[in-house]
Amino acid sequence: MTRYTRTITAAAVALLAAACAGDTNEQEAATGGAQADAGVVNVYSHRHYDTDDQLFQRFTERTGIKVNVVTAGADELIARLESEGASTQADVLITVDAGRLHRAKERGLLQPIASETLEQNIPEHLRDRDNMWFGLTRRARIIAYAKDRVQPSQLSTYEALAQPEWKGRVTVRSSDNVYNQSLLASIIAHNGADAAREWAQGIANNLSRQPSGGDTDQIKAIAAGTGDVAIVNSYYLARLQASDDAENRRIGEMIAPFFPNQGDRGTHVNVSGAGVTAHAKNRDNAVRLIEFLSSPEAQELFAQGNQEYPVNPAVQPSPTLAAWGEFRADTLNLSTLGELNAEAVRIFDAAGWR
Ligand code: FE2
Repeated sequence: MTRYTRTITAAAVALLAAACAGDTNEQEAATGGAQADAGVVNVYSHRHYDTDDQLFQRFTERTGIKVNVVTAGADELIARLESEGASTQADVLITVDAGRLHRAKERGLLQPIASETLEQNIPEHLRDRDNMWFGLTRRARIIAYAKDRVQPSQLSTYEALAQPEWKGRVTVRSSDNVYNQSLLASIIAHNGADAAREWAQGIANNLSRQPSGGDTDQIKAIAAGTGDVAIVNSYYLARLQASDDAENRRIGEMIAPFFPNQGDRGTHVNVSGAGVTAHAKNRDNAVRLIEFLSSPEAQELFAQGNQEYPVNPAVQPSPTLAAWGEFRADTLNLSTLGELNAEAVRIFDAAGWR
């Protein structure tokens, strides 16, 4: 969705909020609520799914709080928050990957939030240790494999893909991408820096091609015969498999998911998440929005919009993900991924995985 259409949507949400305000106020007056004049909440979001708009709309219906959304690239939003400083209009930052959320925290762009609701709805390892950000959807970094060339019995761990038998067969995007940096950060945390260096070097040696494109491009590459396995986020494969487009579905059918490291620490997972900005003018509304997004009602829609796993354990994943079966996920606290990001970047550079 372009930024232009997004602005229109935000305006539509605002109109709808105005239309619903009467009902909401009546309800709250009836229950003695003190939120009758609920106001607005301004969101900077890197996510761009139609379901997110539906969610904000539902939040407005429930609370009377208008949601204004600015969407842009994740790094752009962080840069913008930084340059706006105390004068920013943004109350909430929504972005992907703990590595990036941590970056926002490090730069002083977020503030801590004490919320029992968030503590109940979101498992501890999927939120920041200092309550600066909270995971809202969860994704696994899986091994996608070409069904006609790879048997699942040949697969086991991320580490195994660095072995010589996989030479010329591993397809993965550039190491300048935060998803790979967070995966490597998890390997540093579990196996130590030396083992992480060896792994990055091993994968760099086994690449089927010079990294290019995003995760979907890696899946399409192995479907076309360039490489046999791809390291990708789960939703990229699930989206192809659940696509309305026949060609996408055909590709999705050729490729199957494998959850690595089931015999030890579990598959690396990450989140998209949200935090309240350091200079939020509508702090209470910001907290209410994030609490709403973690609720079972919102989690169903929020996760399914992008074929992600809900963070709230009370909510089931989409039928496509459910068909993949359950898996053991790494429970490493995701704050660690951010803390080890710089070291991961250094290791990648030295390994020549560009
Ligand atoms: Fe992504």
